[in-house]
Amino acid sequence: MKTPFYFIALISLVLFSSCKNETKETISASEKAAEIEEASSKIEPSYAQIGLDMAFSTKAQLGKNLMGTMKKKGTKEALKFCNVRAIPLTDSMATVHRARIKRVSDKTRNPNNKANETELKNIEAFKNALANGEQITPILETKNDSIFFYYPIVTNGMCLKCHGNKDSIDKDVLASLNTLYPTDTALDYSENQVRGIWSIQFKAK
Ligand code: HEC
Repeated sequence: MKTPFYFIALISLVLFSSCKNETKETISASEKAAEIEEASSKIEPSYAQIGLDMAFSTKAQLGKNLMGTMKKKGTKEALKFCNVRAIPLTDSMATVHRARIKRVSDKTRNPNNKANETELKNIEAFKNALANGEQITPILETKNDSIFFYYPIVTNGMCLKCHGNKDSIDKDVLASLNTLYPTDTALDYSENQVRGIWSIQFKAK
């Protein structure tokens, strides 16, 4: 991950203040630790960092439950888990973070996860960035006193068991998908593609 700005600022602050103290004999380790702690408490994380923390902690929750169920009970049971729990789990993380957290896509499985116009535009931007091998950084917009944060959700090999083509999805899983999601369009992905985005809204400070 990119070194966050506030971390760089903190390091330079500590380096800078240690120059000032050159004439002092020695600074004890505990004094130094206290100095760092005081400095870091004054530096606020950026909005990008706040959004990334929310996205990654929600992803970790979903991922942990998905992987656990896949390993213990197989893909078909994991599919039922996603069907029943994906949105409530995301919503509970939103409550924890006091934000609005959505996982949206241009090719949805659950029609409730359909991207709006702004989100579609940002999905396209992330697709282009990924295709051009550019570094992926969050998109941030401010409206009134709200921050809108967008960050891509990219596929890996595991996703293809439920979002791949007919060769990568088991027959019984495909049958369940047809029953649970008759309008499913979240298929035929390959690895390292933009499957959707995190769309997160929170209050500006
Ligand atoms: C066990 C099957 C399964 C696996 C594996 C899986 N998904 Fe899904 N995915 C689903 C189901 C089912 C839904 C619909 C959830 C709902 O109804 O809320 C979904 C929905 C989504 C959505 C929300 C948008 C939409 O289409 O509704 C995203 C984004 C997503 N998956 C990304 C991924 C990614 C990325 C991976 C791999 C890291 C992955 N999924 C692995 C079954 C799976």
